[in-house]
Amino acid sequence: MTRDYTIKPMITADRIAARVEALAAEINAYFAGTEKLVVVGLLRGSYVFIADLARKLELPVEVDFIEASSYGSGTESSREVRILKDLRSPIEGLDVLVVEDIVDTGHTLKHVLKLLASRKPNRLEVCALLSKPSRREVEIRARWIGFEIPDEFVVGYGIDYAQRNRNLPYIGAVEFSD
Ligand code: IMP
Repeated sequence: MTRDYTIKPMITADRIAARVEALAAEINAYFAGTEKLVVVGLLRGSYVFIADLARKLELPVEVDFIEASSYGSGTESSREVRILKDLRSPIEGLDVLVVEDIVDTGHTLKHVLKLLASRKPNRLEVCALLSKPSRREVEIRARWIGFEIPDEFVVGYGIDYAQRNRNLPYIGAVEFSD
């Protein structure tokens, strides 16, 4: 059951595109000369971001995905994180870039990073599209953040509320009617 809501635009598609371009330029420079960069998308929220970002990378890129459980159909983060789908390929000795939609409390990313670090990659970095710093419960080292946003529940550009609104081309804040 979802509540009635409207969506208030927060970040336009043009602003997102410009920021993705700038992030990609920084990532290209940082990983210049790499033999292989494994770009790991955290499903499902990162699928639009990773598609746009990966196409701006001028590096030998492989794309893989990992899925961790997060919210059910509500808006409260659960502390317990489970891996629902693991990577297809080993990452030992490789450069890895984890692409996340939102860092909220930080629990999901912390869990995923711990798991990936245990597999001994060469470099392990994070690029998150959005971050809500005021919500953080555990410290996360993300080298690249697209936008810092206030504590509002957002949708669009791959991000959902109860699996809806992922296909919005912009990012908007959910405003509940009741
Ligand atoms: P964390 O473990 O609390 O950092 O939560 C991370 C995950 O919760 C994100 O990858 C999203 O899937 C989800 N999430 C956090 N904030 C929002 C939001 O505002 N809208 C939709 N999903 C969110």
